[in-house]
Amino acid sequence: MQFSEDKISEIIEKNDIVDVISGYLSVKKSGNNYTCLCPFHSEKTPSFSISPSKQMFYCFGCGVGGNVISFVQKIERMNFVESLKLLAEKAHVDLPQDNSKDQERAKFLKTLYNINVETARYYHKNLLENKKPLEYLKARGLSEKIITKFGLGYSLNEWEALYRHLVKTGYSINEIKQSGLVLPKKDGRSFYDRFRGRIMFPIIDLKGNVIAFGGRVMDDSKPKYLNSPDTLTFNKGFNIFGLNFTKLIKDLKNILIVEGYMDVIALHQYGIQNAVASLGTAFTENQAKLLKRYSNEIIIAYDSDMAGQTATMKGLNILEKQGCTVKILRLPSGKDPDEYIRKEGVESFLNVIERSLPLIEYKIENIKKGLNIENLQDRIKFAQGFAEVLSDIESDIEVNAYVKKYALQMRINEESIYSELNR
Ligand code: UTP
Ligand code: MN
Repeated sequence: MQFSEDKISEIIEKNDIVDVISGYLSVKKSGNNYTCLCPFHSEKTPSFSISPSKQMFYCFGCGVGGNVISFVQKIERMNFVESLKLLAEKAHVDLPQDNSKDQERAKFLKTLYNINVETARYYHKNLLENKKPLEYLKARGLSEKIITKFGLGYSLNEWEALYRHLVKTGYSINEIKQSGLVLPKKDGRSFYDRFRGRIMFPIIDLKGNVIAFGGRVMDDSKPKYLNSPDTLTFNKGFNIFGLNFTKLIKDLKNILIVEGYMDVIALHQYGIQNAVASLGTAFTENQAKLLKRYSNEIIIAYDSDMAGQTATMKGLNILEKQGCTVKILRLPSGKDPDEYIRKEGVESFLNVIERSLPLIEYKIENIKKGLNIENLQDRIKFAQGFAEVLSDIESDIEVNAYVKKYALQMRINEESIYSELNR
């Protein structure tokens, strides 16, 4: 939604920055300004300063600063419009009412969320009442507790079980249709369930709404997973599985991106609660932005197969563009995090996390792959690729460190790497 400059100024004016910040932090007067410990980096002596006259804040420690809106954006991890709405409410400023069409849409959206919640409950009840899917999940090592936490469920192996249940609950055919949970039959007037005989994974957004489902078969039939289509409530590229839990972690250090639903759930069961999944699609810029709200350090743990590698590279670049520090976690080939942690245990997995490679080193390791350092041609190849990777690094100190390390390892003269770099 667009807001006029006037409205925005009014909201800034009516929210004194010292008052607003005092609501979150304990501030002290110091001369004309106020100071406190910076909430955006860790420190022992206050370098966070608020100027009542300028109605701005600035941290001399980490360099963040801005006005009252940017403060709320940062501390609440909200976008501009969300912050504006929060501040407008606080100061009793009326924001232009959404027009009636928008209200209608909002009401419809609410109905779709309700359908999804009802469906999640229904699937969950099915699961608890059916031996086969419960045993499947047990056999995969899931505890009752984690099944409940993630609200896992089961779609009966029948054509209209959910459809009938939703009609009986009181939803209209159009509403049910728009939820994406049913598909039209040939006659175009009756419907059948999209998910049948599958283990169901509800997808939950950051506000706690059930927005979609993924469903897995219990045997080798195809497709292994079926997902809700894009609907009014769900847009794949905008959501991340598990982030609703991960965002609750206090002093979250980093976020671990894995490929699958089962990986996220298994890791959470073992106490690794910063694991999320990008929902099987190519990683998008919007997903990167979402992650960055919660952590600047992202560790990617995708498969080491070719598809996984390519996906990793793409994801890395997207995340880097958003200003994230990116690391790559490498598991022995053919193993996903779920299999690894079950077989090797949590200690071992934490070790692998510890050893994840910064992006630069990952790129360098990739160049080394398949080259034989006994071979002169290969060493030249390495030096060229190496110089190319180094040319992206801004800090000389960092460049020097890498040159030292790899010159020795690859038995190349340091000078020649520098001269390659200078070309
Ligand atoms: P994987 O094939 O790695 O599955 O797909 P998984 O998560 O390890 O599941 P298990 O362990 O075999 O049960 C990774 C992710 O890709 C998406 C899903 O989100 C899945 O979790 N995917 C995969 C699909 O959407 N459709 C498919 O047919 C397969
Ligand atoms: Mn798996």
